[in-house]
Amino acid sequence: MNKQLFTFWLICLLPFTLLAQQQEVPTPQWRPVYHFTPPKNWTNDPNGLIYLNGVYHLYYQHNPYENKWGHMSWGHATSTDLLHWKHLPVAIPEIETKDTTTWIFSGCAVLDAHNTSGFGSNGKAPLVAIYTADQPKQEKESQFVAYSNDGGMSFTNFAGNPVVDIHKKDFRDPSVIWMEEQQQWVMTVAVPQEHKLQFYASKNLKKWDLLSEFGNQGDTRKIWECPSLTPLYVDGDPSKKKWLIMISSGNPDAATGMQYFTGDFDGKTFTNDNPGEHQQFVDYGRTFYAAIPYNNLPDGKHTMLGWLMPFETPTYPWRGQMSIARDLLLKSTPEGVRLYQQPASVLNASLEKLPASKRLVKQGVEIDSREMPLNKGGRFGSNANWIDVTFTPGSGEEFGLKLGQNSVSGAETVIGYNKARNELYIANAGGTDKMMVKPSNGKIRLQVLFDKSSVEVFVNGGERVLTTLVFPDSKATGCAVFSAKGKVMMDTLKVWDLSF
Ligand code: FRU
Repeated sequence: MNKQLFTFWLICLLPFTLLAQQQEVPTPQWRPVYHFTPPKNWTNDPNGLIYLNGVYHLYYQHNPYENKWGHMSWGHATSTDLLHWKHLPVAIPEIETKDTTTWIFSGCAVLDAHNTSGFGSNGKAPLVAIYTADQPKQEKESQFVAYSNDGGMSFTNFAGNPVVDIHKKDFRDPSVIWMEEQQQWVMTVAVPQEHKLQFYASKNLKKWDLLSEFGNQGDTRKIWECPSLTPLYVDGDPSKKKWLIMISSGNPDAATGMQYFTGDFDGKTFTNDNPGEHQQFVDYGRTFYAAIPYNNLPDGKHTMLGWLMPFETPTYPWRGQMSIARDLLLKSTPEGVRLYQQPASVLNASLEKLPASKRLVKQGVEIDSREMPLNKGGRFGSNANWIDVTFTPGSGEEFGLKLGQNSVSGAETVIGYNKARNELYIANAGGTDKMMVKPSNGKIRLQVLFDKSSVEVFVNGGERVLTTLVFPDSKATGCAVFSAKGKVMMDTLKVWDLSF
């Protein structure tokens, strides 16, 4: 294993590896209902996200044999609504030969609609995966391609691999898009230790030429991994195109996290909108990592999935889950163009289909120094809820939601807004995740996606997002709205029970 990975493994994964060895007690109470988890064993990054003929494909970093990192292969699942997933056989397995072990690290998939690669057969466009081949014995990472002519179920590795090799130990996570104007494929790939990205161009997905580099800007405290480059229309206006770069690296409060840059990309070079020292983050929690956008979505949509990196508490027989699918939006703000995220709009159709017994709507309720339970009569006690609530702060010092409450032990997870500190936090016995966010037009809107062991909080329409993992005991299913030390006005509340 190369040094970089070893360090990553030591810091992030070793505790889980040790715990996994100790504990093999099934934990169904923490198995998410509407977030993706593999049926069993380990997952980390989402890979090769692509939408084909009404189906969302999710490939993912997977150890098919054990509930810990290793034997990296691409697991595979599909969904038509981004809530229910169909599990499929491993799509790209590790390659073991006498001299070389090749682990299938992170990467992307593209539909080669014009068969530029020549990999297609019978006039059908091939699906092409571009991934990092990690070869620990050779201490090398290079970029490989593999193609599928059966709709992404199985892949054949290209005989001419590697397609990009700069003879480095750490060089990974290619992300490829098609640029219509230039009639070229563009690959963005990370040189993690050097905090930089390289851009390559190709006409056929096989021969790649270096275009330029971007790096040593923003937050450089951590290695850079899993980059993506995405064109977006600011405020949805086609005359205001910007390019979004997202990178997994760190965030101010956590060892792991993601940052982003906005700027221009002319088919060769990325120009940052902001001064090099300016830092912007995708999610402020400890767990959200390695997110990449879907390729080939209709209507110019851009939607991503991220990995929720597991904490110390072990889950069994799986470990690791994906975030909810998130739409990416760029908006003009007085500070400049900023990234907003929303739970993917396609999810709304599933919410609308839920029967009245799985929905709750309230309006204009003043809460004064108390808790208002939401799960009276057993409703909404599934720990798999989606809550959309808007508050107008009043005299109360703090207000928000309490989830996963155990009335006997007093255990709970508090999603609170502290008015004086302009701080949104998620706190429980496992720790606190927090971020600064100000009211918008005098209001705080929280979209809370709670799914057994994950909590994602989108504030003020996705201006900032805080994600964490929680591990409530199986009896901790209470939920409530609260205001502490004074009043808050709850303008609107919607709760959906997604326990299906
Ligand atoms: C990020 C990462 C990637 C790499 C993969 C290996 O979590 O380290 O950089 O491709 O995981 O599993």
